[in-house]
Amino acid sequence: MKIVDLRSDTVTKPSPEMWEYVKSMGNSQLGDDVMGEDPTVNELEEKAAKLIGKEAALFVTSGTQGNLVSLLSQTKPGDEILLEEVSHIFLNEVGGAARIGGLMIRTYSSVRGVPSFEYLQSLIRDKEEIHEPPSMLLCTENTHNYHGGAIVGVDALKSMRDFINKNELKFHLDGARIFNAAVGLNVPVTEFTKYVDTVMFCLSKGLSCPVGSIVAGSKEFISKARKFRKMVGGGMRQAGIIAAFGLLALEPKWIKRLDEDHKNAKKLAQGLKNFNLPIKVHPTDTNIVIIEMLEKIRIIKIITTLNKAGILAYNISKEKIRFVTHYGITEDDINYSTEQIGLVLKKNL
Ligand SMILES: Cc1ncc(COP(=O)(O)O)c(C=O)c1O
Repeated sequence: MKIVDLRSDTVTKPSPEMWEYVKSMGNSQLGDDVMGEDPTVNELEEKAAKLIGKEAALFVTSGTQGNLVSLLSQTKPGDEILLEEVSHIFLNEVGGAARIGGLMIRTYSSVRGVPSFEYLQSLIRDKEEIHEPPSMLLCTENTHNYHGGAIVGVDALKSMRDFINKNELKFHLDGARIFNAAVGLNVPVTEFTKYVDTVMFCLSKGLSCPVGSIVAGSKEFISKARKFRKMVGGGMRQAGIIAAFGLLALEPKWIKRLDEDHKNAKKLAQGLKNFNLPIKVHPTDTNIVIIEMLEKIRIIKIITTLNKAGILAYNISKEKIRFVTHYGITEDDINYSTEQIGLVLKKNL
C-alpha cells in the first residue's frame, strides 16, 4: 500500500547530494566540538551566522534545546517571559523553561501569531511594583506551527521590535521554520531576523537534515548559550559528522526548494476546499495545512481511517488535523492524498 507521511516535516531524510558529501568526509574534518575543534561544526556555525545576519551561531541537538538555551542565556530564575498561547515552547517543550530555567510563563493570545499591542502592553509588569516579577523576554514563533504555518510578517515583527525597545525586553524568535517564512514571502531571511535579539532555526525539518538546529545572536549571547548547551547535555564531540548535512542544507538552492512544499500544501488545501464538506480549511501560507471539523466527530476515528488508507496525519486538537508537506512528498502524492482524504471525510462526516 502506498504510504504518504504528512505527519511532520521532521520525518524528512537527507538528499543523495548530502549523503555523497558526508560519505566523502574524513577524520580531518572532525574534532572535539566541546573544545571548539570540530572544523565542520565551526564552518556550519559561521555559515549559519552569516546567512541569518547575526554575529555568531551555535549548533544544538534540537529545536527544543535551542529554544531552552536561548531562554536560559537571557534570563534568571524568577523572571517572567511572554509566550504565545499555542506556541511550541509553551505547549510542546515539556515545560523546560519553568523546570530548568525557573521562569514564570505568561501567555499572550494572537491572530495567527500577531498580538494586539495594547493588550500585550497590559501584560507587562510594573518594574516599580514590589510584588511583581520582572517581565524580561518575549518570544514569537515564525512560521507559526499551530496557526497552520502562518507567516508573522515583516511589518508585524518591526512593530514587535518597537514594543520590545519601549519595554526594555529581550526578543527571541522560535524560527524552527523561518526559512519557510522567507521563501513564502520571497524575502531574505534577515528581513525577519534583524528585528530579534536571538533566533533558533531547525535543520531537521523542511531542510531535511537528520539532526540539529542552530541558535544565533550576539557573540556574548552565544558564549553563554554554549555553556548552557553543555549543562543540558548538548556537548557533542565529533559532531561534524551530523553538522555536515547542514552545510548543504544552507545552500540557496536547498532553501528555495521549500517553495515546492508550499505549492504542494496549497494544492492540498484547495483540493480539500473543493469537496465542500463541513470542514474549515485554514489559510495556508507555507507547508502546513490545518483542517477543522465543523461537526462534532471523534477525530481519532478519522486519523485511524486515514492511516488505514495510507495517509499519515496528526490530530493537533480535538477538532483539528494537521498535514505537513516536505522533502520527499511529490505532486502525485498530493493528488493521491487529496483523493483519499476526501473519501475518508465523505464517509465519516
Ligand atoms: C515551531 C517549533 N519550534 C520548535 C520545535 C522543536 O524542534 P525539535 O523537535 O527539534 O526539538 C518544533 C518541532 O516541531 C516546532 O514546530
